Amino acid sequence: MSKIGIIGGSGLDDPDLLLDARDVEMGTPYGKPSALLKEGTIAGREVVLLARHGREHTIPPTFVNYRANIKALKDAGCTRILATTACGSLRQEIDRGHLVILDQFIDFTRRRQVSFFDEFEPHCAVHTAMADPFDADMRGLLNEACDRLGLAHHKSGTVITIEGSRFSTRAESNMFRMWGADVINMSVAPECILANEAGIPYAAVAMSTDYDCWKTDEAPVTWEEILEVFKGNVEKVTSLLVEAIKELD
Ligand code: ADE
Repeated sequence: MSKIGIIGGSGLDDPDLLLDARDVEMGTPYGKPSALLKEGTIAGREVVLLARHGREHTIPPTFVNYRANIKALKDAGCTRILATTACGSLRQEIDRGHLVILDQFIDFTRRRQVSFFDEFEPHCAVHTAMADPFDADMRGLLNEACDRLGLAHHKSGTVITIEGSRFSTRAESNMFRMWGADVINMSVAPECILANEAGIPYAAVAMSTDYDCWKTDEAPVTWEEILEVFKGNVEKVTSLLVEAIKELD
């Protein structure tokens, strides 16, 4: 049976989701992960929860040690990773509180380490396929679970991950829309890249909290808005995780 790593994003940093939870400290050759791992069960399945930005949200997106996070989950025995993230919407039809089951990313980060390989073994270069980076089986389970729970959701979507920690300018936001991005965040791309490199199937559910700043008829996004909308809708994400995990082998 698979062990599921859950990477909790902003607003889902330390939920009371797990039964028989215990903290586990892990080190990796890349340094320490963002927080202690919380191991326990959901619906009888073994899960390991990791707060992406630390349990007190002290780690900005640029400084999250994504390599240590993925390696720690791998070393803890996780065979799949489910990630959650808040995101801004770049499309009118993706309203606040909607969930998006991501199927593509555009990596617009600049200062992250997005490979485990700082050096190749002689004549052993590694270039990981990334055409379809989100796991199709887990995406299917998440979409079916959204249908069963009646959650407003979008069955696919392209996320653009920006460096942050600042939000985008209007020019950038409009450019990202033209590029075909549907939602925007600051964390998923590096994590997804590294999970693929590590050979761990990865899927992510993004909760839309704002319309970034491309709309002319409303005020630009603020961090306070993101937190408020995420907190008001977080039970959708937790109920979705539980419902989807029930169906995992
Ligand atoms: N996370 C949530 N909303 C966001 C936005 N508008 N830009 C970047 N990251 C976000």
